[in-house]
Amino acid sequence: MTTHAIILAAGKGTRMRSERPKVLHEVIDKPMLRWVTDAVGDAGIVRRVVVAGHQSEDVIAALPDGVESVVQQPQLGTGHAVVVALEHLDGIDPEDTVLVCYGDHPLVPADRYRELAERSSGNAVVLTTVDPTPTSFGRVIRDNGEIVGIVEKDDATPEQAAISEGNAGMYAFRAADLIEALSGLDDHNAQGELYLTDTVGILAAQGRPVSSVAADPIEMLGVNSQSELAVTTRHLRERINGALMDSGVIIDDPDRTQVGSDVIVEPGAILRPGVYLRGRSRVSAGAQVGPDVTCIDSSIGRNSLVWYSVLRGATVGADCEVGPYASLRPEAVLEDGSKAGTFVEIKKSTIGPGAKVPHLSYIGDATIGADANIGAGTITCNYDGIAKHKTEIGKNAFIGSDTMLVAPVKIGDGAVTGAGSVITEDVEAEALSLERSPQKHIPGYARKRKANKSSED
Ligand code: UD1
Ligand code: CA
Repeated sequence: MTTHAIILAAGKGTRMRSERPKVLHEVIDKPMLRWVTDAVGDAGIVRRVVVAGHQSEDVIAALPDGVESVVQQPQLGTGHAVVVALEHLDGIDPEDTVLVCYGDHPLVPADRYRELAERSSGNAVVLTTVDPTPTSFGRVIRDNGEIVGIVEKDDATPEQAAISEGNAGMYAFRAADLIEALSGLDDHNAQGELYLTDTVGILAAQGRPVSSVAADPIEMLGVNSQSELAVTTRHLRERINGALMDSGVIIDDPDRTQVGSDVIVEPGAILRPGVYLRGRSRVSAGAQVGPDVTCIDSSIGRNSLVWYSVLRGATVGADCEVGPYASLRPEAVLEDGSKAGTFVEIKKSTIGPGAKVPHLSYIGDATIGADANIGAGTITCNYDGIAKHKTEIGKNAFIGSDTMLVAPVKIGDGAVTGAGSVITEDVEAEALSLERSPQKHIPGYARKRKANKSSED
């Protein structure tokens, strides 16, 4: 028996007070909706259909490969959204299971979707419930313990509103039952919408058993406002950091450390406060990251120290030192034991093993050989206003402070450049190249100047 998932994401999200579609607001490092499609996929459900509506083009463009979409226009309620999705899933086996969930519930883990799909075998509808209820949730109505319906908050009588069992917003149905129950929906309710939740009462009235799974209240928190988004972010951060610490990662201040879901941090790595690791980043054992590092799609090797810095698309080897205040941009590669120090920016360049760029430099489109030393203030002038050019620096080269390397240019192995030189021509191995006007020396100049000045007065 196959399970298909329908993920509702067509609503406007008015309470977010935002131009952006609600489900595209980011939680840690990916859109809210992506957390849901990923968790459903991780639960082993192959076919996932997202119902988009409000700003559907943006929502559909953000979907990962393999996730289908359908547009619900206009949005006549959650029940209507499922009708539209089932039209898209035309031809599914009546005995198949249809899982319905909401795109604004990013905290639901894959296990919960799996459990729900497994529990729905046969003709039963499984409905997750949560106790006590967040006040906005639909109320679960029971008679002699059996579920007989769900009443939305705005439609509830005072007695129903007092019920502490809420509808978490995840369902698994036998396809044939769902299709039949949807045909019985009407919009005679406070919001004038076709409520998916009414299918529960319809099935119960037909004598079809509706069972429930008790859900963790935190997992079931939905996002309807910016403050709920912040609460959700906090819970996911705690979940990710908790798992990392259980595995042996050292995190000084988990409230101030945010690690994306695809990031790999090896046991024994140390994360200091103010660290943001995002995208496909990786931190190896023994590395110390932070305080205050943003690291996107970058890797940090064993026993390296990276602090007060920003890394984007960079690769840092083992035993390196980065920062304070370094900016490593895409394709910056620091080989083992190398250094990018204070106020150093590196782009599309390889810094060889043991080479050092300690202070105040811009290195772009360059290769720097092993153990070379780049003096303070050195800059690769890689851009002539039209095209980018390469700088090659050999191993053990010694680049004097404040050297301007006007690319394309090559500095041979072991070569030396004099401080303050503007190097426009290649330098052969072991040579010294110096470009500087001779220093003038005028003895007694200051005294004469003073004398001239007082005679004028
Ligand atoms: C819904 C449930 C409520 C439950 C709560 C849990 C209904 C009628 N009510 O209420 O019982 O306790 O979720 O969070 O289902 N959507 C569409 N098309 C539409 C309308 C909505 O795709 O025409 C989508 C929304 O984008 C959202 C989801 O369905 O992702 C839920 O809609 P929302 O308006 O947030 O429902 P709630 O009032 O939260
Ligand atoms: Ca909601």
